[in-house]
Amino acid sequence: MSPFFPAREDRECWDDFLTRELARAGERVTTGSVTPTFDLETFRSELSEFDFRVPLALGDVLSWTISQMEQGLVHVTHPRYFGLFNPAPTFPAQCADRIAAVFNPQLATSTTSPAAVEIEAHVISSVARRAGLPTEAGGHFTTAGSEANYTALICALTRSNAGFATEGARCFKGPPVFYVSRESHLAWLKIAHQAGIGRSAVRLVGTDGRGRMDTNVLAHTLTVDRSRGCVPIMIAATAGTTNAGMIDPLGDCAEIARSNSLWYHVDAAWAGALIASNKLRGTLKGIEQADSITIDAHKWFATTMGCGMFLTRHTDLLSSAFQVSTGFMPSNLPKFDPYVTTVQWSRRFVGLRLFLSLAVAGWDGYGKHVERSIELTELLRQQLLERGWAILNDSPVAVLCIQPPPQFDDVRSIVGRILSTGRVWIAAATFEGRDVLRACVTHGETAPDDIMELVNALNVTGEFAKEEEYLT
Ligand SMILES: Cc1ncc(COP(=O)(O)O)c(C=O)c1O
Repeated sequence: MSPFFPAREDRECWDDFLTRELARAGERVTTGSVTPTFDLETFRSELSEFDFRVPLALGDVLSWTISQMEQGLVHVTHPRYFGLFNPAPTFPAQCADRIAAVFNPQLATSTTSPAAVEIEAHVISSVARRAGLPTEAGGHFTTAGSEANYTALICALTRSNAGFATEGARCFKGPPVFYVSRESHLAWLKIAHQAGIGRSAVRLVGTDGRGRMDTNVLAHTLTVDRSRGCVPIMIAATAGTTNAGMIDPLGDCAEIARSNSLWYHVDAAWAGALIASNKLRGTLKGIEQADSITIDAHKWFATTMGCGMFLTRHTDLLSSAFQVSTGFMPSNLPKFDPYVTTVQWSRRFVGLRLFLSLAVAGWDGYGKHVERSIELTELLRQQLLERGWAILNDSPVAVLCIQPPPQFDDVRSIVGRILSTGRVWIAAATFEGRDVLRACVTHGETAPDDIMELVNALNVTGEFAKEEEYLT
């Protein structure tokens, strides 16, 4: 039997084995520890025994791997993972990964994978219209939000000065700069570095004390930059800050960008999923004025990792930014071939995950999904307030920045103790200069009982932490 290409009946057998074993492992995960339970040293020693000299049986290697995943991860698929926005993936998204793995389409060109390229384009167009962009808007799937934000910056630089394509940052009369809030996702620093304009090009605009970009500070910083000879390029507002789920004043940022002839980008990596809810999409008012938008399907749309989206009303600009021509590719069509309109060349069929999920749940299904997380977050808020905890953010999305009552232990100690119980996962963060516990409802099947478990864990670890006997 070929280890690479087993006979059909053997493959079916292994597929069935995987289906069964993964379902069992998934069940055990949801009732077990959220945090890793393995011993890292033992794991490393077992891993080092894979010297790849003697071929092993597939069943043994699969079983070993599943077991290590089960014991060696923080489980984002656990309903009491109140963590950073990594979701429990939808089942249709998992089906999509399986289909993509079997057909393995190359999405660099439409010529070789027309069905897959068209499916992705259809989903992107539907999401762009749902976000309020015009019918002709488009874009593409990306590896993640960071690539989508990078794409926005490259588009902004290229539109600001077409010479950027050939000369890079040298084409500008002064140093190019762009504006994000200090609560934005700091991958912007790496993005500026990659784009060749340097990290100092990122203006981290101050916030209003509630975690949102202060537009007075923004306007002032712009004026000062111009007077110093800098060349402002782009304003990137955040819709759903990573720490606190705050939404920058999208309409005001749009207006400042328009009156200064700047590219207006909205990084809605996380909260962009609010477009699905008829009840809540108004929270994103102003997003429809964006030149471009980032939304991560692998966040609140709950696809498997990584599945970002870049949406733009200026689709022609994409081909000026990423155009290239080679003899070995079967075609070179800016409207159809993703390799000439995006950062990537070879591409995986990631858009199928959102296509299948949207197809079976519809916008309404996704609307209910986000509304549900927000209702549970509200329950958590009420329960904590009743017990004397403070909530520092007033975000419209599913995250709370929590401060313990004064007599309780400090945030990082509480988080450390909670994680050591393995019962819930919660993060420590900083919001507007203060240490907070950050709890985010990310899992589509988290239930009120799970929320109560978190409330109890917070109270027990916070209160008892002061007592010596608890610590020993
Ligand atoms: C607001 C925001 N923007 C961008 C990113 C980066 O996205 P990714 O991790 O998908 O690259 C994140 C990630 O948490 C985010 O919260």
